[in-house]
Amino acid sequence: MIRFDILTVFPGMFVSPFDCSLLKKARDHTLIDIQVHDIRLYAEDRHRMTDDAPFGGGGGMVMKVEPIDRALDAIITDRNDVLIVLLTPQGETFNQKTAGELAARSRIVLICGHYEGVDERVRTYLVDREISIGDYVLTGGELPAMVVVDAIARLVPGVLGNVESASLDSYATGLLEYPHYTRPAEYRGWRVPDVLLSGNHREIDQWRRKESLRRTQFRRPDLLERMNLTEGDRKILAALKAEKNKE
Ligand code: ADE
Repeated sequence: MIRFDILTVFPGMFVSPFDCSLLKKARDHTLIDIQVHDIRLYAEDRHRMTDDAPFGGGGGMVMKVEPIDRALDAIITDRNDVLIVLLTPQGETFNQKTAGELAARSRIVLICGHYEGVDERVRTYLVDREISIGDYVLTGGELPAMVVVDAIARLVPGVLGNVESASLDSYATGLLEYPHYTRPAEYRGWRVPDVLLSGNHREIDQWRRKESLRRTQFRRPDLLERMNLTEGDRKILAALKAEKNKE
């Protein structure tokens, strides 16, 4: 069981994404617990301000440190084993490896950054890790928090139906996935590759490995460079190169 606590100024954004699909099932089966907290409730001034103008001037608003600190104090009693993460475009880029590391934690607090930025003291004194979901800027850390929760949740044992699904994923194996097909075997003249209908599992496995390698070499050659390829894989890649040269 992993518990996620999300600190946000837009709690409403999380209602539907966490109430559908596998995440809902995972919550219903208490494999994960997601608590969304409204930072505004921890702002003590009259207007419940969670942001303010930047010292030094300039445009935009900055998220204040006290409401975030108070919210953390209220939801965390034992700081041990709680990982506090700030979602920000300035963080380390999230990937499958990070998801795996975080899936081993029992409690993760996700703070959704907003506006022009977050008071630097949140970074300096309150958070353990800063995460970005990619090199683009969104309006806030809410969608990134959902992405991170989703990617971690599906690695929690029992969340995915098929035990194999996560371990055979693209990225978990280091390769992109081979093409998938289902019935009908032919549609508008578009045929499923014969080998998949052959029932010969050794040949099917070989075909799938080859197509995974082909797809990865074509779309993401950088993944191949980082991988430990088997002798068999190298042979397949050489054959694919030869095929290409003939074209
Ligand atoms: N907030 C805005 N853009 C973001 C991003 N790419 N990742 C994480 N948090 C963000």
